[in-house]
Amino acid sequence: MLVRMSTSTAGPAIQVRGLEKSYKELRVLRGVDFEVARGSIFALLGSNGAGKTTVVRILSTLLRADAGDARVNGFDVGARAADVRESISLTGQFAAVDEILSGRENLVMIARLRHLREPGAVADDLLRRFSLTEAGGRRVATYSGGMRRRLDIAMSLIGNPPVIFLDEPTTGLDPEARIEVWDAVKELARGGTTVLLTTQYLDEAEQLADRIAILHRGRIIVDGTLAELKRLLPPAEVEYVEKQPSLEDVYFAVVGDAAEKE
Ligand SMILES: Nc1ncnc2c1ncn2[C@@H]1O[C@H](COP(=O)(O)OP(=O)(O)O)[C@@H](O)[C@H]1O
Ligand SMILES: [Mg+2]
Repeated sequence: MLVRMSTSTAGPAIQVRGLEKSYKELRVLRGVDFEVARGSIFALLGSNGAGKTTVVRILSTLLRADAGDARVNGFDVGARAADVRESISLTGQFAAVDEILSGRENLVMIARLRHLREPGAVADDLLRRFSLTEAGGRRVATYSGGMRRRLDIAMSLIGNPPVIFLDEPTTGLDPEARIEVWDAVKELARGGTTVLLTTQYLDEAEQLADRIAILHRGRIIVDGTLAELKRLLPPAEVEYVEKQPSLEDVYFAVVGDAAEKE
């Protein structure tokens, strides 16, 4: 008897090897490698134009790579695109919520589209998890940027995708809203979802990620836990007090090194 598993639970949630992508002459990805463990939060850190969205678009099957392998939830993004799409949800920089509907109505609508039983209960549960219960009955047009982004993240969770991509989830938000979204991302990981987020903010990676990879000039130039990244630099000695390097110190040190080698 042949049993075809629709989800594979062994191995990492995301595996990327030798990924390359050019837009005409512009070589954006020049051999990108990384892995994301199941249930972890992984930050792909890079400046504007580094290629973060390109990686996310390839992993979510919206764009084809020129070379290399990428697997999501065990499925090859080229050969098993439909299975990959069933395994993921993608939330972009611009929230895809309907302004005219209330937060709750947005959630119920998506739950209906996904043919879930009890869409109302699904909506109420998500409103609670993302601290939107009180706002749930209000039109989204009245929401702050942080509330919208939280609703967007809540919507992307409907149907329980094992892997979620958050492409610059806090770009353009004020500091208070950023912290609200950070809490929402932590909530995702508590529920066991694997999160790949892209960010250009060092503090965001530092706050959220179990593992951080820096994408620079088409390659991952460092990849590790925050503690591992900090060990790349010796602590600065200030008289008798050791000052631990910040992620910012590490970032500029490695990005500077990569520039010197070229
Ligand atoms: N469809 C496209 N056609 C041509 N160039 C593109 C296209 N999409 C992105 N680029 C270019 O590729 C580079 C990487 O873009 P992107 O992946 O969006 O970076 P990031 O998300 O890190 O800001 C940028 O220089 C961008 O201008
Ligand atoms: Mg981008």
